This record gives sequence, C-alpha cells and structure tokens, in this order.
Amino acid sequence: MSDKDERQPDDTGPAPSADLAVRGVQVFRARLGVSEQSDLVATLRAVIRAAPLFSPMTPYGRPMRVRMTSAGRYGWYSDRTGYRYRTRHPSGVEWPPIPPQVLEIWSGVTGLARMPDCCLINFYDAQARMGMHQDRDEADFGYPVVSVSLGDDALFRIGNTTRGGKTESLWLNSGDVLVMGGESRLIYHGVDRVRPGSSTLLPRGGRINLTLRVVD
Ligand code: SIN
Ligand code: FE2
Repeated sequence: MSDKDERQPDDTGPAPSADLAVRGVQVFRARLGVSEQSDLVATLRAVIRAAPLFSPMTPYGRPMRVRMTSAGRYGWYSDRTGYRYRTRHPSGVEWPPIPPQVLEIWSGVTGLARMPDCCLINFYDAQARMGMHQDRDEADFGYPVVSVSLGDDALFRIGNTTRGGKTESLWLNSGDVLVMGGESRLIYHGVDRVRPGSSTLLPRGGRINLTLRVVD
C-alpha cells in the first residue's frame, strides 16, 4: 500500500444513497438497473468461460455447495489446508481481469481510488447456502467488502463481529449492492437460502454474487 491513505472517501465522490443500514452494513437497493444487470451477466459469462466455476473443498473436507471462480490479481480458494488467495485458477490459468463495469460499481459505492484485487464470483443454485462467516483472509480490514447480487433473491443474515448472538436477515434482490466497511467490516454474515424463480435475469435460474475485496 502507498503511504498516502487512499481509504478516505474523496469529497467529490458519490453522495451516499444507501436506503438502509443494518448494523453498519450499507445496502444500496437497485443500484444496478435491469439492462446494467444483463450486460454484467454477459460479461461474467466470458469470465466464467476463461476461468470455469468449481466447488472448493472446505478445510473440513466437504465440497462447498456454492460454486465459485474469481477475476483479478487474486482469486479466493479453499481446500483441506485452509482458506487463502491464489494467483491462478485451479486449471493453472491466471484469473481474468476484473471487468471495468465491476470496478465502476466499487468506485461508485466506496469512493475509493484503490481498486479491489479480487472479484469472487459465487453461483448459488436452488439448494445452495453459505454458512455464517467473517471475511478475514485480507491484509487490511480498513478497506470495505462490496457485494453485488444478481438473479434470484437471497436471504442474507447479518450477525455480530463475534460468532453467535442475535442476527438480522434481509432479502437481497437482483441489482442490490451491499457494503461491509468500518465497524461492520468483520461482521459475521451468511446466506440462508435463495428464492428460486424470483428473478428472470438468469435464464436457468440461480443467483450470482460478486464479492469485491482489496487483498494485500
Ligand atoms: C459471501 O459472503 O461470501 C457471499 C455473500 C452473498 O452471497 O451475498
Ligand atoms: Fe463473506
């Protein structure tokens, strides 16, 4: 990181347009319009052709139900030895670059000059879910995590910065963008379920979630 602190949102940045904040997690409802969403899906298809979705093994020895791949300098990965970032897809190819329209979403909601290093692409089918966890494989928690929802609705659960305790849930719809930063950067979160058939964005259904993070 440079010595200039790039984490301070710049004054000319976007006016806050979050219509909701749950425990410090900002939710930008319908941040992406319908045509932006379909353009983004077309772009992601090309990324997935170059770096196909796979089911990582958890450190506990079970394949994850959510299938995933990444774009950027780093891709998120998991196997029996743990969670980490790596610079190549399991096939040996480099991760494709993060598409410019994804970087635009990042700058739009964070106002940061520093771009994310990783765009994790998660695909949820009708049965997929994601257990409660913290995003903590990154070097600097001063940078936020930005998450983009596309396709079927997801029931997103928000907990606390320590495991357990009371939680709150909200439905994330296609086009919503969520930001976990500041006091909510290390909050536990997960996806309890998706609502099959709630969106027509993906012709065969399901949900895509993009998670953008600064890694090192
Ligand atoms: C994640 O936390 O890794 C995914 C969140 C989501 O799918 O909305
Ligand atoms: Fe996460």
